[in-house]
Amino acid sequence: MTGIQLHSVEKVYPNGFKALHGIDLEIHDGEFMVFVGPSGCAKSTLLRMIAGLESVSEGQIVIQNQCVNDTLPKDRGIAMVFQNYALYPHMTVYKNMAFSLIGKESKQEIDRRVREAAEKLEITSLLQRKPGQLSGGQCQRVAVGRAIVRKPKVFLFDEPLSNLDAKLRVSMRVQLIDLHNQLKKEGVGATMIYVTHDQVEAMTMGDRICVLNRGQIMQVDKPVNLYHSPANRFVAEFIGSPSMNLHDLALSRQNGDIGLRLGEHALLTLPPELQAQLGGYHHNEVCLGIRPEYLRRVEAGTPNALAATIMTVERMGNEELLHCDIGGYRFITRVATRHDWDPLLGEKIWLDFALDRAHLFDKETGLNLKQRH
Ligand SMILES: Nc1ncnc2c1ncn2[C@@H]1O[C@H](COP(=O)(O)OP(=O)(O)O)[C@@H](O)[C@H]1O
Ligand SMILES: [Mg+2]
Repeated sequence: MTGIQLHSVEKVYPNGFKALHGIDLEIHDGEFMVFVGPSGCAKSTLLRMIAGLESVSEGQIVIQNQCVNDTLPKDRGIAMVFQNYALYPHMTVYKNMAFSLIGKESKQEIDRRVREAAEKLEITSLLQRKPGQLSGGQCQRVAVGRAIVRKPKVFLFDEPLSNLDAKLRVSMRVQLIDLHNQLKKEGVGATMIYVTHDQVEAMTMGDRICVLNRGQIMQVDKPVNLYHSPANRFVAEFIGSPSMNLHDLALSRQNGDIGLRLGEHALLTLPPELQAQLGGYHHNEVCLGIRPEYLRRVEAGTPNALAATIMTVERMGNEELLHCDIGGYRFITRVATRHDWDPLLGEKIWLDFALDRAHLFDKETGLNLKQRH
């Protein structure tokens, strides 16, 4: 088995704080794996443990069939790109990129690798400059170049784009995806682990995503699966923008049908699959989750549609996010911008809930009830 395996990995810092709880994860050879989660959830801790910059308290880290718990960082075949780039300010870009190879490779080989990496990253014209003469985006590329020349088995990135402005971040994101594809095509082992708190970055870059919260894995899956089948309420809320609508609602059982109450007047009758998930569920309330695009604006009086009052409008240009009130609950719906309709605050509209796309989460544990069956 190649790639990277984490077996029951735990981290307790010297002050006694337990940052990671039993992490089990398999990262495949050549995979682009993203660790995503809110600040403080221990993404960097886990990455630094893989790099060898933090000790492993419990468990095992295996890289290409070898347990590396006691292996020095330089002997792990990894290269790390940090958020602050950590370039040497007094050295030229060329020297910064060449530095880790000096004494290990011939001068010609070093020159070849630096120029090849520079070409890939389109920074050849910057090789004689010093970091102080570069923009943030250029520094970022130099930092990546410095990693590439080492021909590592694994690239580790810790929020490498978070110091860049929004536009540049998007273009660098695409460049990193291109780089990964290019290295893969060349047959270079291009396993990448990329840490970010930004779920959009995670969704757009990852072959798979590992969602972390408070030092625990919440779910590991392909982006599309995280989006459509969140394992729990945390993932449902964290992935996607605007967030999934999530509300604890009272269950109503009438004439053998199960529905959810939205205040005094509105009732959502659940489709058979969701009703089936509630077999053996004993709480009076359950958390309903439904994404903004699955609340559709329909004609007044459409069967099963609910009346909603527009409270806030966010105009995105191509679409509008309408924050609506239904029976005292806030729901966001996403509607395409239309020339013949301008939503007004206080306006009453009708929303059809596409409940076949909705989720139910256990009120206590937050687990998706789908998993119980
Ligand atoms: N050296 C340390 N000693 C004690 N606690 C630490 C240390 N480094 C990080 N932590 C704590 O571990 C948790 C995870 O930190 P970190 O891995 O940096 O999170 P993230 O990268 O997800 O923001 C945080 O609560 C942080 O305060
Ligand atoms: Mg961090």
